[in-house]
Amino acid sequence: MEIKTVAIIGAGTMGRGIAYCSALAGYRTILEDVSPSMQEQGIEYIRRAFDEGIARGKITEEQKQQSLARITTAGSVQDACREADLVIEAVPEEMELKLEIFTILDKFAKPGSIFASNTSSLSITEMAAITFRAENCIGMHFFNPVQKMKLLEIVRGLETSEATVNSCVEAGRRMGKEVVVVRESPGFVTSRINAMIGNEAFYMLQEGIASAADIDKALKLGLNHPMGPFELVDLVGLDVRLSILQHLHRTLGDKYRPCPLIEQYVKAGRLGRKSGRGVFEYKDAAAKQKA
Ligand SMILES: NC(=O)c1ccc[n+]([C@@H]2O[C@H](COP(=O)([O-])OP(=O)(O)OC[C@H]3O[C@@H](n4cnc5c(N)ncnc54)[C@H](O)[C@@H]3O)[C@@H](O)[C@H]2O)c1
Repeated sequence: MEIKTVAIIGAGTMGRGIAYCSALAGYRTILEDVSPSMQEQGIEYIRRAFDEGIARGKITEEQKQQSLARITTAGSVQDACREADLVIEAVPEEMELKLEIFTILDKFAKPGSIFASNTSSLSITEMAAITFRAENCIGMHFFNPVQKMKLLEIVRGLETSEATVNSCVEAGRRMGKEVVVVRESPGFVTSRINAMIGNEAFYMLQEGIASAADIDKALKLGLNHPMGPFELVDLVGLDVRLSILQHLHRTLGDKYRPCPLIEQYVKAGRLGRKSGRGVFEYKDAAAKQKA
């Protein structure tokens, strides 16, 4: 099916970035969030991201104006999905919540429209099974920050049709992404490897092997990782990473058991940049590094 209108459910870290890429790609874009203030902040973020794009010479003022004109907001999931050809959900990483969204989409979206989840690790097949259109359900795993990251990992559930895969590959390319298509498995390719590296880094910190700053430095300068594991988990959110690890632990076994230190940080509310403190502290723009 030809995709003209994309609805995005959830205007948090990921949803707002996906909306940016969708509008810039020329799609009519509808952004919805259960929290009106998150929806507002999402739109504000998108404006700033366009300004940043102009400042970096990546886009023109005209592209910004045209893209912003393609974005609207909706007051409910029902309203957001009614006219969409592709719906991408980016609500928190909880299966119950995703199932709730897929149920509403199945009821209110037009026949033939595609439902994608931006989940980092959960089963697309399980989300698809709650609908009467499993062949139209798929994973579209974008990366943070969406407007800067090149990859889109497309996840094929058990019943996902070839036509759905092809439409989403094309949409991803139009949004400027390099695409890989993977078969469903917990954590797919990227989250599984990343969770493993990140968890190991927490064990090293817990064991006092090195400071967080030095572990990050070692991976960046010695292994050529563009970001250290702690810098990255602070960006992703420690709560998001912990829920991925818990899922991998449940589904793939003991080697993914979350390090007690990440559990403790989450209990303390140290969730990363979004809460002002994760492994490092973010009291001001200079992001004073601690630990
Ligand atoms: N953060 C990352 O780096 C990252 C990277 C790749 C994939 N993901 C995945 O993307 C998804 C979203 O993650 P995020 O980091 O953007 O989360 P987030 O917490 O920043 O944003 C989620 C948004 O969903 C909204 N929401 C909650 N319930 C809702 C509902 N019923 N209807 C509409 N909106 C609702 C919340 O108000 C919030 O604004 C998760 O599945 C996560 O695993 C996250």
